[in-house]
Amino acid sequence: MGMIKLPQGSVSFFKENLDDIFNSGNLAEGKWNKEISTFINSHCNVSCSVPTSSNGSGLVALMMIYKTYYNRMNVLIQSNTMYGVKTMVYTSGCNLSGYIDCSLETLMPSIEQVRKAVEQFKGDKKSLMILLSHIGGIINPDIEKIAEFCRSENIILLEDCAHSYGATLNGKHSGTFGDGGAFSFYATKSIPAGEGGVVITKNNEIGELVKRFIIYDRFEQKMNIGSNNRPSEIQALLIYSVLMNTEEIIENKKHIAEQYIKACEELGIPYIKQISAFSSGNYYKFIVYNDDKPILEFLPKLKTKTSAVYDYTLGSKNKIASHHACLPIWYGQENEITKKVIKELYESK
Ligand SMILES: Cc1ncc(COP(=O)(O)O)c(C=O)c1O
Repeated sequence: MGMIKLPQGSVSFFKENLDDIFNSGNLAEGKWNKEISTFINSHCNVSCSVPTSSNGSGLVALMMIYKTYYNRMNVLIQSNTMYGVKTMVYTSGCNLSGYIDCSLETLMPSIEQVRKAVEQFKGDKKSLMILLSHIGGIINPDIEKIAEFCRSENIILLEDCAHSYGATLNGKHSGTFGDGGAFSFYATKSIPAGEGGVVITKNNEIGELVKRFIIYDRFEQKMNIGSNNRPSEIQALLIYSVLMNTEEIIENKKHIAEQYIKACEELGIPYIKQISAFSSGNYYKFIVYNDDKPILEFLPKLKTKTSAVYDYTLGSKNKIASHHACLPIWYGQENEITKKVIKELYESK
């Protein structure tokens, strides 16, 4: 947490506009919440973006809405995701109906793994939602096939985009493949603004329900579910200030990644690629892995790491937790840290 830095342009923009908030008298539900929606609608090419207090509060709202108004009460989640994704399902009042296994090469489920989990689900598919997490800064490479499969099986697909703001696959942003998604701008995320999230959807009916949910539906007073899941105007200004500089943040981390890539290629260390012909990641994590040996044996001298994604498995165990590690990569990272990590990689081989 101590190492989070923001672009100078974001800090200056925030300070320059702070007085505006106090002068406006609008400390909530004002201009900066709207600016975020406009920005993300255009950046992600969606019709509906709703700023929320966090990714989790947005995903809980989406699941509660689908459960209450569309009879979708059963949810499958992937085994390799943050523990809180499980608590989100229960918090929304849905049933956690199973875990989808994940592959070490992506840390996410393939289309085959999704199909298998759906086959094992014994209930009515019309009651089903799949909530998938894009892990480490890239979009699940199979998401288009998974979305197509979900459409053909009449399954709702929600995307947990906590890690993936700014990433694209075939030019499309995460959260736009399925029925809705939510970003996170939590302090340690790739595009960090302390706290905050944004729900996106191309489905205007769902978007309207999310908008009403986060204000307790206090104007129309027709919904029986709802909460206050909004960022304040000050928080919204901070999120907007950081969003404006997404490219700069990603570009800065790309230079660190290039140095790691050179070392990994020379040493034969498998790593997850953030950039390919069709995919562009945001460098949330630089992930090295090994299929045969646990990472502690494969890279015994690697001590300088950041938190794994993840060091536990939800559901039945697989090797992901013990067979990967994350190299430090954050905006404005000191060169000495990058060099130290590379030295440890060479000493491991
Ligand atoms: C995969 C994943 N999903 C969801 C979240 C929750 O994000 P937030 O803290 O914004 O609710 C996190 C945060 O750690 C995460 O890693």
